[in-house]
Amino acid sequence: MPSLKDIRAANALINDATAPRVSVWVGGTSGVGKLTIKALAETGASVKIYIVGRKSSEERIKTFTQELNAINPKAEFIWIEGEVSLLAETKRVCEIIKEKEFSIDLLFLSTGYAPLGTREETSEGLEICQSLEYYTRILFTLHLLPLLQKAESPRVVSVLGGGLERFPINTDDIDLKKPGSFSSARGQVQYGHLNSIGLDWLANEYPDVTFMHTWPGWVDTGNVRRGNIDPNSWTGWLIWLVLEPLIKTFSMRDEDSAQRNLFQCTSAAFGGRGVPWKGKPGLSTLQKPDGGLFLVNYKGDCTPNTKNITRLRENAQSKVWAHTQNILEPYL
Ligand SMILES: NC(=O)c1ccc[n+]([C@@H]2O[C@H](COP(=O)([O-])OP(=O)(O)OC[C@H]3O[C@@H](n4cnc5c(N)ncnc54)[C@H](OP(=O)(O)O)[C@@H]3O)[C@@H](O)[C@H]2O)c1
Repeated sequence: MPSLKDIRAANALINDATAPRVSVWVGGTSGVGKLTIKALAETGASVKIYIVGRKSSEERIKTFTQELNAINPKAEFIWIEGEVSLLAETKRVCEIIKEKEFSIDLLFLSTGYAPLGTREETSEGLEICQSLEYYTRILFTLHLLPLLQKAESPRVVSVLGGGLERFPINTDDIDLKKPGSFSSARGQVQYGHLNSIGLDWLANEYPDVTFMHTWPGWVDTGNVRRGNIDPNSWTGWLIWLVLEPLIKTFSMRDEDSAQRNLFQCTSAAFGGRGVPWKGKPGLSTLQKPDGGLFLVNYKGDCTPNTKNITRLRENAQSKVWAHTQNILEPYL
């Protein structure tokens, strides 16, 4: 496990030559994504940062980026408004980015929330959290892959539950649509595991891009309150009386989370490309220091999770990927 001191030392090497020159952040309007954007800007490097988000966050983000520009005038921020839970909107936003950019160094995906509460669908018929945490993330990746492939050390980082693959997933009802299929716990497991399965597929198809599925640990971002939760329900009370106090007590500091995520976005510890790293390299799901998907926890440890990933590859991957392609095909 790299210590926070080592991580800070590695991040201190981020400069105009080593920083992700062009990055796209989906989920950067709050929480872990926003904290990491701040840490990247604070390096002082010359960076162009696209922040994609819904209209309701626009004003907040304008103030935030103005403050960051005062610290780092070399950082350029480009806001793109988009309803990122929708596939059609994801496609539209990607078309805008493709028109503006030739290459992208980093795609950071962190939309979503703990799916506590009842099932709620987007106008496209997908459970909102599943769309945010899986489908639109894969769609952003597929659209932007040609630009990522043109970068020197391209990287896709999806923040959710990397390394936590422990359970079988529902492959008969991948979208948990059948009556009784959806629950908070099943949604949580399903969406996290789908991320690993989908990104593992892409990592094997596109070895010239570094793919990471990370688990941020507990960070006090208000994430557990974002689901479709009646505040007067048992779940509402449980969150208020138990979960939130626990998160407040045991979460890592925002600043530490930001540094750890910045390290994961930039260090050659994951895949060999990026900011030089003299420590032990992380191993991917292929048990290799380069190629394959990197499952990385909040401490910066890689977990190849070989037994569980092999089982998911054998039992679920081809079915999940075929289904994913069916869902995304109209938006590609
Ligand atoms: N925080 C933790 O302790 C923790 C632990 C494990 C896993 N995770 C997962 O890691 C990811 C990042 O976590 P986080 O704490 O940074 O999340 P967060 O701060 O709660 O929010 C992340 C992003 O999701 C967007 N979002 C939420 N609901 C949306 C909706 N209905 N439509 C469109 N956008 C929506 C937010 O947009 P707005 O800013 O516009 O609201 C924000 O950009 C999430 O998927 C989370 O579930 C978090």
